Amino acid sequence: MKFLLIATLPVLIFLQLNFLFNHWLPNNYIFDKDVLKKLANESIAKHQGNTTAIMYDLQEKLTAEYGSDVINKLNFDDWLLNNAGGAMGQMFVLHASISEYLIFFGTATGTEGHTGVHFADDYFTILSGHQYAAFPGQLERSTYAPGDQHHLPKGTRKQYSMDPGSYALELAQGWIPAMLPFGLMDLFFSTLDAETLYQTAYVSAKNMLKNLIQGKF
Ligand SMILES: *[C@@H]1O[C@H](CO)[C@@H](O)[C@H](O)[C@H]1NC(C)=O
Ligand SMILES: *[C@@H]1O[C@H](CO)[C@@H](O)[C@H](O)[C@H]1NC(C)=O
Repeated sequence: MKFLLIATLPVLIFLQLNFLFNHWLPNNYIFDKDVLKKLANESIAKHQGNTTAIMYDLQEKLTAEYGSDVINKLNFDDWLLNNAGGAMGQMFVLHASISEYLIFFGTATGTEGHTGVHFADDYFTILSGHQYAAFPGQLERSTYAPGDQHHLPKGTRKQYSMDPGSYALELAQGWIPAMLPFGLMDLFFSTLDAETLYQTAYVSAKNMLKNLIQGKF
């Protein structure tokens, strides 16, 4: 009886989280993927090919649209390396809360790996370079160029790669804490980069708490 309960508990928790994902969690979303795409498009058009300038411009537009309370100021000292799913890149956290994160993510050298399977929808708007991706069974890759938005639906998986010098604005909407093990595990079992582990945990916790206190779940 006790065993049955222990075996059933994770399923019940999953079903509950899934119900909330469909019926309650979206009430907490403040970002709109279509608005992000439009703003990214404007910044790309204005600063053709200069990734740094695109990012500064887009951060300003995001702040004007959503407010400086929820969008962090861009600086290039607070970028973090990230290893996950065999891929490696670097990121800057613009926003992180329990139900959403918004980051600049990309790679100077190029990378390839597994997207991960997430309890969230992921919208990857390319700012510079190219991303390639394919579902299992898809024999020809899909290509995403600047201005394109690659949607990875919740619970799906792909192989992806990015050319050197490719960067994107990434929005995730769903159960963000459930995504963290994918993003952090390599720090324990592969890179053993204690400073990045500390900074990643610190930035995630700080932003989530800050937003929670401001009433943004
Ligand atoms: C790109 O933009 C940045 C920030 O606006 C600027 O400092 C830099 O000189 C620009 N680079 C080129 C090659 O135009
Ligand atoms: C931006 O939007 C315009 C107008 O809809 C479109 O013609 C253009 O291709 C878009 N650019 C990018 C980079 O998506």
